[in-house]
Amino acid sequence: MAEPLLEVTGLVKHYPLTQGIVFRKQIGAVKAVDGVSFTLAAGETLGIVGESGCGKSTVAKMLVNLERPTSGAISYKGEDITKLSGRALKAVRRNIQMVFQDPYTSLNPRMTVGDIIGEPYEIHPEVAPKGDRRRKVQDLLDVVGLNPEYINRYPHQFSGGQRQRIGIARGLALRPEVIVADEPVSALDVSVQAQVINLMGRLQHEFGLSYVFIAHDLSIVRHISDRVGVMYLGRVVEIGTDEQIYDHPTHPYTQALLSAVPVPDPEARAHRDRIILSGDVPSPANPPSGCRFRTRCWKAQPRCASEEPLLAVPAVFPDGPAAHPSACHFAAERRVLPPPPEEAGP
Ligand SMILES: Nc1ncnc2c1ncn2[C@@H]1O[C@H](COP(=O)(O)OP(=O)(O)OP(=O)(O)O)[C@@H](O)[C@H]1O
Ligand code: SF4
Ligand SMILES: [Mg+2]
Repeated sequence: MAEPLLEVTGLVKHYPLTQGIVFRKQIGAVKAVDGVSFTLAAGETLGIVGESGCGKSTVAKMLVNLERPTSGAISYKGEDITKLSGRALKAVRRNIQMVFQDPYTSLNPRMTVGDIIGEPYEIHPEVAPKGDRRRKVQDLLDVVGLNPEYINRYPHQFSGGQRQRIGIARGLALRPEVIVADEPVSALDVSVQAQVINLMGRLQHEFGLSYVFIAHDLSIVRHISDRVGVMYLGRVVEIGTDEQIYDHPTHPYTQALLSAVPVPDPEARAHRDRIILSGDVPSPANPPSGCRFRTRCWKAQPRCASEEPLLAVPAVFPDGPAAHPSACHFAAERRVLPPPPEEAGP
């Protein structure tokens, strides 16, 4: 297999919890991300899903260097970028750009669209010399499906979907190889979500991009992802291809998330397997011992409290679509979604 473009190994981000004003004392840590590993191949889209607070945005911020990891490595083309600084870091950062969740708050309301999209050129003037910027920004507006004549307008003059197109154009300005999109469509109406996802798919082909696409809902990432990683409380609990995760999930948490995915066909919906999870996600400052999912898992056994399950291909599945990494002592296939129509019997 070719070397991955991006390889994340044992990534950790702990935010210290402190007490006291004069003598600040660390009393613990929020374990926002606690040992996450994955790879991203060139041209691939990796979806990352999980409930609110499981650490998705923290992973995204570390990938684009908005946060420094507590430990772990992020290799880009074989080089650990967490160890870089100065000019070398700047050069790598250019290649990994982010698209943010909320197009209403992530665009500066006092800047014109042209200034917003062209802002990265201030930091990287080598990509677009001053005299060339206006044309470059207009090209980018055109590429994301906006009228290049809108270059002097302000964000409030655009709809949510258009604003997210502006955010995407800005992400593309430096011609990156990787785009980390943190819930890029979550704040948009359902009808607009598909348009933005289609745009991202088209841009991926046009510019040979690789995506890390974050969502809290498995239904959104299916169409755009080649592989999907499911996160729970700072860890990846299951990872595999689309088919492995959607049709052959083996981790109870993935199965529960899938059971909440909307099924449009009423007949198929009647056959779906509903799993209602009880309880809330525990605090990342004090995660459960052993398997972090055990406080909500209907299959939990004493072993789950004492022994932490590793993210690995379960021994019970030597081959076939269930043979993909799953962090569960009792990994078992359970098809939650009804099979796609072509697979269903007569
Ligand atoms: N700067 C910070 N200081 C302390 N705790 C933080 C900080 N940033 C995030 N956290 C905590 O880390 C955990 C993970 O947060 P993160 O934003 O990565 O989750 P998320 O999966 O993106 O959630 P959402 O779906 O709500 O966006 C949360 O418990 C959050 O409160
Ligand atoms: S290891 Fe135990 S608690 Fe964790 S998901 Fe598997 S069965 Fe549930
Ligand atoms: Mg988030």
